[in-house]
Amino acid sequence: MENTDLRSDFTDLHFAEEPNIKVTPPGPESMKLLEKQKELESSAVSYPRSTPLAIDKAKGATLRDLDGNIYLDFFGGAGVLNVGQLNPVAVEAVEEQLENLVHALDFPTKVRTKLAEKLLSIAPGELEDGKVFFTAPTGSDAVEAAFKLAMFNTGRSSIMAFQGSYHGMTQGALSASSGRKFFEDYQPTLPQTHFAPYPYPYRCPFDADSPEECGEKSLNYVRKMIEDPHSGISVPAAMIVEPVQGEGGSIVPPDNFLPGLREIADEHDITLIFDEIQASNGRCGEMFSSELTGTVPDIMTIAKGFGGIGFPLGAIIYREELDNWKSGAHIGTFRGHQIAMAAGLASLEFLEEEGVNDHVKEMEKVMLSMLKSEEPGMKFVGESRGKGLMIGVEFVKDKETKEPYPEMAHRVQELAYKKGVIFELGGHYSNVIRCLAPLTLTENMVKNGTRILIKAIKEAQREV
Ligand SMILES: Cc1ncc(COP(=O)(O)O)c(C=O)c1O
Repeated sequence: MENTDLRSDFTDLHFAEEPNIKVTPPGPESMKLLEKQKELESSAVSYPRSTPLAIDKAKGATLRDLDGNIYLDFFGGAGVLNVGQLNPVAVEAVEEQLENLVHALDFPTKVRTKLAEKLLSIAPGELEDGKVFFTAPTGSDAVEAAFKLAMFNTGRSSIMAFQGSYHGMTQGALSASSGRKFFEDYQPTLPQTHFAPYPYPYRCPFDADSPEECGEKSLNYVRKMIEDPHSGISVPAAMIVEPVQGEGGSIVPPDNFLPGLREIADEHDITLIFDEIQASNGRCGEMFSSELTGTVPDIMTIAKGFGGIGFPLGAIIYREELDNWKSGAHIGTFRGHQIAMAAGLASLEFLEEEGVNDHVKEMEKVMLSMLKSEEPGMKFVGESRGKGLMIGVEFVKDKETKEPYPEMAHRVQELAYKKGVIFELGGHYSNVIRCLAPLTLTENMVKNGTRILIKAIKEAQREV
């Protein structure tokens, strides 16, 4: 790979380090496309409903809309664009690959082999000696493959997932996602999925004086569900968990939680799946978020950032002893997207060579310390938290009762957008503003974006 002299200074990867709003968004040109989209496309379209943005061009962690406004992108395509839009190192690899091959199913190619080698070389613990399987290109399909592999190996059919989880939109992945609206409106079909409480320190589902006690009690609950013959569930084929919960609200579990799950899984021969689709690829300051506690799963799902600059790529990495399924057990025509593989490989090399994990740890400190120092003056902010650049700000009506305040989170998202910074919204009660920015944000960009967020929070607070 050609060196682009970027090391630790990412300034040139973006249009600018601050937003530039020339026309109050959405401006007239953006409105034309937004309206056309409503006319032509399904009512299931999602993001433009909360952030009415029509994108013209993007660079790094900045977006330009059709009216020429420049935004800081703290949303990062829902946590996909870890190396930033059109990262030049990945673009170069894509251009080279385009001259050779795009589609190859699962036939071996040079780029595929290099990527498989790379993924195993960075995989945590014993997974280094495991297997890679490239699934269909979405995260949801990686989750389906993980379930299938676990069910095949254990001969069992039920899955244990966690409250606050999101694992995707295909039927199995959706069945293991805890959002009630999907159960009520769309009835996912995996019949035996059970949800245990995730240790959410700010809202521990148990009476607990510390995050560790919350972790302990959550583990006891899981153990009881599995060991009590009258718990109402069968012993699951797998437990699937996000090592840091994403859509649930950027929730970092206490350090004892994942090692405790590992113990329970080992004792009962349950396949432990870590869904790393959102929290890995440097997002939390480590290549895989499970490395924060050094816990190694049996299967790890990956997607999102692993396609580099927004190309689709999904995979599972798993222990070799699980590799018993048959040829053709999980097939699909887009499993070998060579462009995504080239972009993904170049992006992994970029993350390593540019020391992005260390940068992310520093940016976490900058953002969280700015937010926390303002918390006393932000009366509706219950907690600012997160790991790396997966940061969440949770809104409550009252800091004592912690009653969720989703309307406030929505208003803050809207005001921040009007001022030129894009955030995601998530959390159990849709009351968490989430940052999933490209990891190549400069310190100035983190400070500018966070300053605008704080301004938006204070403005929204004055309105009530
Ligand atoms: C933890 C996690 N798992 C799975 C998925 C599903 O991935 P995809 O949208 O690529 O199907 C997501 C998407 O947000 C996710 O955050």
